[in-house]
Amino acid sequence: MVNFSDRLQVYQTTVETALDRWLPEASVQPQKLHEAMRYAVLGNGKRIRPIILYATGEAFGLDLKTLDGPACAVEIIHAYSLIHDDLPAMDNDDLRRGRATCHRAYNDATAILAGDALQALAFHILVRDPDIKVNNQQRLSMIATLALASGSRGMAGGQAIDLDSVGQSLTIAELENMHIHKTGALIMASAELGALSADDVDPALLTRIIQYAKCIGLAFQIKDDILDVEADTEILGKPQGSDEAMNKPTYPNLLGLHGAKKAAHDLHGKALKYLEIFDEQADMLRSIADYIVKRDK
Ligand code: IPE
Ligand code: IPE
Ligand code: MG
Ligand code: MG
Ligand code: MG
Repeated sequence: MVNFSDRLQVYQTTVETALDRWLPEASVQPQKLHEAMRYAVLGNGKRIRPIILYATGEAFGLDLKTLDGPACAVEIIHAYSLIHDDLPAMDNDDLRRGRATCHRAYNDATAILAGDALQALAFHILVRDPDIKVNNQQRLSMIATLALASGSRGMAGGQAIDLDSVGQSLTIAELENMHIHKTGALIMASAELGALSADDVDPALLTRIIQYAKCIGLAFQIKDDILDVEADTEILGKPQGSDEAMNKPTYPNLLGLHGAKKAAHDLHGKALKYLEIFDEQADMLRSIADYIVKRDK
């Protein structure tokens, strides 16, 4: 059986190299914008979305090389979402991945533009990456998957719900809906893009993988809410207590810490059930589900 942390490190190093290659050099004009894009993407992210994408691709027997482009695309969308999430108009945070947020290191306008440009770069990669080996029809499906997951019916829509929910008391169903959009959508897209990187994916397996990802995506944001209460700012690399300061509805807020932990634990069990029909090639996906609920940052 593969060693989880060794393989995780391989995924992280692989995506780090690929990200560095796809991002424009900081010496290229407009330099400040390119510098800000590199600043926001490179270094210190957990790379959970690329990790899910690689592990899904490997569960379908693919090489990492064909997965690099999609892994970069989804991580770049995520990095853009974090830049905008931290802006004064949204969560107004000063610390991200252990250093100043993009708008604090540069300025608001540069941070907004870096987000805009990263979003475009993600789609450029999916369109142009020569190492994506599927036919053009399937490549279009990959592009559509990322577009849907990023837009108003995915992550951006979830962020809109999040902003509208400040100071509100949501029902558990409403909170779940917000989390599934703002965080679940990109995590589900990561798994889907990994699967779609293979020709002829069995639709029944694809459905299972997406359901698995829906469970771990929701568990991931519940854990993020729990860490916002429990973790140390230094380990977290972002400000502990940000949700409370901004009066955001969260799982611990609604269910208590114990209830939130139970919800994450139940989703973990549900996620593993969806993987039952997969063989040991899906072991990394199983370990990722464990990691998501056990992580301390
Ligand atoms: C933080 O995402 C924002 C959420 C959607 C919960 P991550 O916890 O994946 O952040 P990085 O990429 O590791 O910094
Ligand atoms: C952010 O959720 C989700 C997205 C960026 C899409 P949070 O606002 O909880 O993320 P953190 O805690 O700032 O990383
Ligand atoms: Mg937020
Ligand atoms: Mg935030
Ligand atoms: Mg959070």
